[in-house]
Amino acid sequence: MKTAPPETGAFFARDRIWHPPALTPGYKTSVLRSPQKALISLEGTTTELTGPVFGHNMLGPTDNDLIVNYARPGEMAIGQRILVHGRVLDERGRGVPGVLVEFWQANAGGRYRHKKETYLAAIDPNFGGVGRTITDDEGGYWFKTIQPGAYPWPNGVNDWRPAHIHFSVFGHGFAQRLITQMYFEGDPMIARCPIVRTIPDPQAIEQLIAPLDWNATVPMDMRAYKFDIVLRGRRSTLFENRKEGN
Ligand SMILES: [Fe+2]
Repeated sequence: MKTAPPETGAFFARDRIWHPPALTPGYKTSVLRSPQKALISLEGTTTELTGPVFGHNMLGPTDNDLIVNYARPGEMAIGQRILVHGRVLDERGRGVPGVLVEFWQANAGGRYRHKKETYLAAIDPNFGGVGRTITDDEGGYWFKTIQPGAYPWPNGVNDWRPAHIHFSVFGHGFAQRLITQMYFEGDPMIARCPIVRTIPDPQAIEQLIAPLDWNATVPMDMRAYKFDIVLRGRRSTLFENRKEGN
């Protein structure tokens, strides 16, 4: 009799119902990068599991404040000020402390500060668009930023990405890295996005949408959005890069 895989252990098998199929022609680049042959499962090696690891004392004081972390002294990034916060949780809903959480995003106009970026929206000289933090004892994290803009991308004739923030979470070694995206509650662009539309289960999409968190809003300063990241199990966040068998 086939039994369900356990929810504990070093690895957790990818749920093919929860995650998008590798080949989703509506997301054009998936056509070339999806496997053409049967997958082979490879065991993780000790080296991959044990090292190297990041140092916990490497973070700067403004690493979790994207409004100022690339700004000239006394200046700030342009855009709507927001606080993004949440918890990194395991499959049983327990907070995971000491997790390096990294985030990157476009500026308020929807432009990334990257040499390959060609969108005509203006660069904000005071906005770098990257930051990081480490979860606290309860698995909590937070950072300040500006609300990113939507941007067009060369996929179909007229495709746009909804406003989103990219997230990376690290485990105990560099081989344990998961990547996902956060969207914003109420954004009509989400349902139109060809990348979002590769996700088969509406509930999986829902878990990528951060609700406005009115209680955490700072009056006269910034609104707040709450985004919990569940590492695995039935309530797992959808990670874009989870490899087969990992
Ligand atoms: Fe993006």
